[in-house]
Formats: sequence, structure tokens, C-alpha cells
Amino acid sequence: MADGKPIRVRFLPDDRTAVVRRGTTLLEASRKAKAPVRTRCGGVAGCLMCKVTVEPGQAGALSEPTPAELLKLGPLLNDGVRLSCQARVQGDVDVRIPEDPLKAAVRRRLAEQADDDLW
Ligand code: FES
Repeated sequence: MADGKPIRVRFLPDDRTAVVRRGTTLLEASRKAKAPVRTRCGGVAGCLMCKVTVEPGQAGALSEPTPAELLKLGPLLNDGVRLSCQARVQGDVDVRIPEDPLKAAVRRRLAEQADDDLW
């Protein structure tokens, strides 16, 4: 890699990894890893759909929050939440992609139906 040591970005829960250059956004890395991060605004900190969570103790592997993240995420930053279109990798890091809300709703409903006593 032209920009120094390659950086490993691992996406959970699917455990998909991309090797990227320093300064790559998490959104770009997720695409390379084929780990779907939802987005609607095209990566301009407008939709807030690309939120991911950095695994504990690894916040230093990402760039400092951008002004847009500070404004839009506020206290969530303290919980390790970042906008994947804004956060740039500086070192090896593991990030967690939240479950798609529609899939989560379907999963909950199926679990409820499994618990129902049909007879
Ligand atoms: S892609 Fe829309 S806020 Fe990041």
C-alpha cells in the first residue's frame, strides 16, 4: 500500500474484514468488506443511517469526530457510536453494524409467533 502499513477493519456481527489504507472511511471499508452499512445521503452526514459502534477500547483507531458528528451524535459519541461516512481509520479496528430495523422487527415477530400456543 502506498500510504504505509495496511489497516484491518473488521465488521461485526458478520465478521467481515477489509484491508484498507489509513484515512479510508468506515463506509468505504464496509463496502470493500461487503458488510452492508445503510446509507441514504451518499456519505455527507445527512441521513444518520450509517451509525456503527466501535468496540470498547478502540476509539483511538479512528479519526477524531468531525464537526458534523459532534453536532448530530452528541452524547452517543461517548458510547462509541460513529458515523461510518465520517470516521476515518487510523489503525486496526473492530466495529459493530447495528441490525437493520426491518429485519429486527421481523425477527421479533417471528419469535413472538414461535412463543404463541397455537392449540
Ligand atoms: S451516510 Fe448518511 S450520515 Fe453517513
